[in-house]
Amino acid sequence: MERDFIRQGLIHSGKANNVYATNYPDYLELESSDRILAGNGAKRDIILGKGVLNNKISSTIFKYLEENGIPTHFVCEGSNEASKIVRAAQMIPLEVICRLYAAGSFSKRYGLEGKKFSEPLIEYTYKSDLYGDPIIDRKTILAIPEKTLIKNERELNLIDYYTARTGLLLSKFYYELGIKLVDFKVEYGRISSDQIVLCDEISPDTCRLIDIETGEILDKDLFRKDLGDVGKGYSKVLRRITKKEK
Ligand SMILES: Nc1ncnc2c1ncn2[C@@H]1O[C@H](COP(=O)(O)OP(=O)(O)O)[C@@H](O)[C@H]1O
Ligand SMILES: [Mg+2]
Repeated sequence: MERDFIRQGLIHSGKANNVYATNYPDYLELESSDRILAGNGAKRDIILGKGVLNNKISSTIFKYLEENGIPTHFVCEGSNEASKIVRAAQMIPLEVICRLYAAGSFSKRYGLEGKKFSEPLIEYTYKSDLYGDPIIDRKTILAIPEKTLIKNERELNLIDYYTARTGLLLSKFYYELGIKLVDFKVEYGRISSDQIVLCDEISPDTCRLIDIETGEILDKDLFRKDLGDVGKGYSKVLRRITKKEK
């Protein structure tokens, strides 16, 4: 189904992305911006070109996941190099974190930095500025459907299944590029058919990625921990993806 999408007004400007309406009510244009934030906005900057890099990386990954059986919101390219057309979804306010190796807030809690998990480990946070994005467990998610919008255990199992499968697919994808996927975060939404699909973005802003050969960090930790040139790290990721596609 080919459609002519026309970008309309700005609906939402988030921490790193802008959301626009289109001429079709069931479709949105999602634009990656050059904004970068860490520590819940305590640290912020502009990385010129990051929006284009993230959009290209995320779009390639969403296409790859879709081809491998994960339903996603991705439709097609948008009106500029930093944007894509997506299915409009009612967002489920959970950040679903998938860990292949221990890092970040996990090792702050339990140590074990670098431990490889035998299968993808899934954690959730409840996405709420008011309550500071608290960690939430499965029982609590199911006990407060009026907040989490998860109707039953089947839906939560489906989210777990998609996330773990994404973890395995994405690990393989990056391994073939000489990159280790440490962990990542995803969001889901409900489209008009009631189906739950993978939404938002999967980019170096939302993944931990390490060059297998050199140990070089290629993701947002470059910014969080002042470890080097953010644009350079993200460009390396896109360069390898583009080379593989050829
Ligand atoms: N398919 C979709 N339909 C509706 N909203 C979406 C979709 N995909 C992502 N979003 C939302 O768009 C916004 C993107 O902006 P972003 O800067 O990532 O926000 P945040 O500040 O929450 O990280 C987020 O609120 C995200 O939940
Ligand atoms: Mg976001």
